[in-house]
Amino acid sequence: MSGCPFGHGGGSDGKTSGEQPRSQGGGAVPTGHDPDKSAAPVPAGKLTYGSYLKVPELLSLQQEQSRPVHHDELLFIISHQVYELWFKQMLHEMRGVCGYLDEGRPLRAAALFDRLHGIQNLLIQQIPVLETMFSVDFAQFRDHLRPASGFQSVQFRLMEFMAGHKNAKVLGLVGEDEDARAQMASALAAPTMYDHLLRFMGKAGLAIPGDVLARDFTQKYEGDERVVQALLPVYHDTERYYPIFRLCEHYLEFDERLSLWRFHHVKMVERMIGGLGGTGGSSGAKYLQSTVANRLFADLWSVRDHLGGGKRTY
Ligand code: HEM
Repeated sequence: MSGCPFGHGGGSDGKTSGEQPRSQGGGAVPTGHDPDKSAAPVPAGKLTYGSYLKVPELLSLQQEQSRPVHHDELLFIISHQVYELWFKQMLHEMRGVCGYLDEGRPLRAAALFDRLHGIQNLLIQQIPVLETMFSVDFAQFRDHLRPASGFQSVQFRLMEFMAGHKNAKVLGLVGEDEDARAQMASALAAPTMYDHLLRFMGKAGLAIPGDVLARDFTQKYEGDERVVQALLPVYHDTERYYPIFRLCEHYLEFDERLSLWRFHHVKMVERMIGGLGGTGGSSGAKYLQSTVANRLFADLWSVRDHLGGGKRTY
């Protein structure tokens, strides 16, 4: 929206010129299949801060379950809600990355990764705020949350699927919510952000095997030595292949930051509930610890084995 009172500078007319440095801005992010675009109409009449951002509605969404209401439950709810908002933004940017790669615009895709990493940092930095809650206080209202659990965060699962961590089993975690299950099923079947990168690199002339490009997208991609070999020229001549090289490093950084979030989350969980099982029915910290080492983009980790001397040890 142009002339936005909150300084968003004018929107775009949906047209974009070729690659531009990020500082010059401009250009609509391709959102083709973006469900967010079906948003409710902007309210009629003169906009105010509150009506544009729907502040009254937003502030009515924190409903504690504990009785008497525990002082810390508000922090617990708001922390999770803020995460969900950032997850929404991340999904939006991830779709943007895929769209730009399909359009052959790697620099614009790379610019969106800067934003994604910034948000990922926030997600990590937010954890100490929730850790100001003492475990003895959490214990006083935790039972009121059962059986709700972060396990059921649909947006987190959509992000995992889009990033490449495909796991059909998690479709069973969302209870009766058929709409959420349908969204997850569609994300499970769709190419991942990495599949879009592979396609882009193939079009750019790298020797990405056809069977990798045509793989079964419902399955987690575990990496392929032929792709690693195809990536070696990029890593041996980073200047020549700079846009691809930069993108690959952005993907790796995304992967690393997701693991860092998982690590900080599990430390918080250990601190809050020790070895107790989760409200979602898992073994709690033990299960979460097993996810910290998850890797999304196997090839990008493996390519490093070929860049220096020495033998691979794991
Ligand atoms: C007091 C703070 C928290 C505790 C004690 C906690 C505990 C847990 C536990 C035990 C699990 C394992 C699933 C289960 O059995 O329930 C889990 C999963 C999860 N939690 Fe939290 N959590 C906390 C805060 C958060 C916050 C602030 C978020 C932000 C959205 C979050 C997001 C998630 C997600 C996405 C999962 C699924 C992870 C996966 O399956 O890989 N949690 N949490």
